[in-house]
Amino acid sequence: MSTPPSPLAASPRVEGILTRMSLREKAGQMSQWAFGHAELDITEAAVRQGDVGSFLNAPRDERDRLQRIAVEESRLGVPLIFGRDVIHGYKTIFPIPLALASSFDEGIVEQAATVAAREAAEAGIDWTFAPMVDISRDPRWGRIAESLGEDPYLAARLGAALVRGFQGSDPAAPDRVAACAKHFAGYGASESGKDYNTTNLPERVLRDVYLAPFKACVEAGALTLMCGFNDLDGVPASANDFILRQILKAEWAFGGFVVSDWASMTEMIQHGNCADEREVAEASAKAGVDMEMASRAYIEHLPGLVEQGVVAIEHVDEAVRRILAVKERLGLFDAPYSKPPPTTVALCPEHREAARRAAARSIVLLKNEPHVLPLSANVRDIAVIGSLADDGHEQLGCWAFDGSASDSVTALSALRERVGTQVRVRYAKGLESSRSSEREGFAEAIRVAEQADVILYFAGEPANLSGECRSRAFIDLPGAQAELGERLAALGKPVVLVLMAGRPLTVGALAARCQAVLCAWHLGTMAGPAIADVLLGGLSPSGKLPVSFPRSVGQIPIYYGHKNTGRPARRQSRGIPIGTPLDPTDFDSSYLDVEVSPEYPFGFGLSYTRFEYKDVTVSPARARIGQPIQVRAVVSNVGSVDAEEVVQLYVRDRVGSVTRPVRELKGFQRIALGAGGQQTVVFTLTEQDLAFCGRDRKTRVEPGKFQVFVGGDSSAPLAGEFDLE
Ligand code: NOJ
Repeated sequence: MSTPPSPLAASPRVEGILTRMSLREKAGQMSQWAFGHAELDITEAAVRQGDVGSFLNAPRDERDRLQRIAVEESRLGVPLIFGRDVIHGYKTIFPIPLALASSFDEGIVEQAATVAAREAAEAGIDWTFAPMVDISRDPRWGRIAESLGEDPYLAARLGAALVRGFQGSDPAAPDRVAACAKHFAGYGASESGKDYNTTNLPERVLRDVYLAPFKACVEAGALTLMCGFNDLDGVPASANDFILRQILKAEWAFGGFVVSDWASMTEMIQHGNCADEREVAEASAKAGVDMEMASRAYIEHLPGLVEQGVVAIEHVDEAVRRILAVKERLGLFDAPYSKPPPTTVALCPEHREAARRAAARSIVLLKNEPHVLPLSANVRDIAVIGSLADDGHEQLGCWAFDGSASDSVTALSALRERVGTQVRVRYAKGLESSRSSEREGFAEAIRVAEQADVILYFAGEPANLSGECRSRAFIDLPGAQAELGERLAALGKPVVLVLMAGRPLTVGALAARCQAVLCAWHLGTMAGPAIADVLLGGLSPSGKLPVSFPRSVGQIPIYYGHKNTGRPARRQSRGIPIGTPLDPTDFDSSYLDVEVSPEYPFGFGLSYTRFEYKDVTVSPARARIGQPIQVRAVVSNVGSVDAEEVVQLYVRDRVGSVTRPVRELKGFQRIALGAGGQQTVVFTLTEQDLAFCGRDRKTRVEPGKFQVFVGGDSSAPLAGEFDLE
């Protein structure tokens, strides 16, 4: 995709304003206030004086009032830009991003952002702080829920799709908003999964893994980026000139602006990188942070720093030019006020249907013993157990500020509606909430379950255990849910475990005792109908895991694209009972007390049908660097159900000037195949797909042998090879 014209190709209007601006007004443009953090009269006076360039979280009425003051009463009349976290939907809540990533479907993901933009724009929001494209390889980190998972290629393609969905081809259109790729960069690599923790990423890992999705978002035209809270290799992201000036602005020619995270600039004092706010303003301005969120270092100190010759005026002008150019690009100079349509689009049937479709495509079937799912027509009595089955709030997941539980359709209500009077659906919570350890409700749950033909056990995490600052050291089922699950499994009836969570959970022991396991994440407003579609067989599940599920916390970080080491694990499976050390035998890279493999690998997800892969060809077998390589595979639906499959292509570069991952996702396609149908899927590997940051830190392709793997998950078998010369 070509890079859109840079907003830095600023207009005469922007240049004209810039020449008339005082230093203070420039610092004002670089300052974003959090609405409600100062008295209203102070806020208004600041806007009138030109001390504010942007607000976050202003309600619509206040927005237009403040905008009027900026446009009509401030000296230069520069409009404000209003931002808000519209992360996975505004009123119509879509699946959390991690779930959306399970769809492996750019179309669905783009549409989710399009709907979110439409609903947010009508509420006067100009700018969303999304997508979050932090690579997340640690499920203890609560923000994994907001991410697109562990893989740079997947996150790059889906991140770009989100940018396209938010901004469209014309971000000034009344139903679009500016996107903000965040958190630049490396924030997801926080040590030990604790939020805001230190990150240490060697340049090669940074470039190949953590920066790749940001680059894709920039190439898709993202108008803004947000820097992270993290200390990256000793330099906080909010003052990291290497990633901001050198990589983002110089190498990638990013033309939009960079906003800090909430007070992430002044937090550099706590980091121990700046002594006071004056130093903060100096460090961030020099490093290339264009707008400061929530704190006040720029407005207080930047004018003085320029006057004293500490910060070059060119840095300030560049930042302001970027901000004004984005405002212009959004059409704010010409149409500064919100324009709600005559009838609201929020939660309209079309949006609900899009959310349901996205939710259904995001569900991942992890286990299915024969004849369990979809529920057979002979089932007459269904027990639904667990509070998550009927909790409109929890299914929305984290970062759903504007969503409402009362708009949600829960799984229980959708199931009841779908089966009508033909089937008895009885419900017992078992536990008051998914975090509860009070066992009083067990007896009733068991009584309900005993009478049923099948037990649907909804277990997992409430929404507020994932998201910002929601790190967990144990990622098992909270409260007494595992125990309740064991009690249900002991009844000897088929048990379907429906997991609702914002992260991978360690549920291997319970999953082993259940006949089927569905990963239903936090799927948003329309979670219920989507889950019912899959349970009842209206739709075959087709989601694939965007992140590996560990067997135990001790395996973290665990991801498929790891290096081989000098002593790779000799066997994937040793039959190790979890937590029970074997006697040491092999001197290889594995554990004594847990298998080396994950519980469920990246890319994994079952279907109600079976797909066969055959006749994989790679051509040419020898090619020059730069020549495209075609990989073809014939995929057949050999079962009796129409279904969709995500065909995945992985590559391994056998020998490099630096060591290379054991495999890397380099292509995926979602295809629909009727029962008995087959299709030839064609992938084209380009030079960019095979490039990596080499010994000399230059990104390029190296000659040599490459292996190719094609299949339905990251453990796909070797399917071919090619040589590059
Ligand atoms: C802090 C979060 O890290 C960031 O993602 C969010 O956009 C801002 N707060 C604004 O709410």
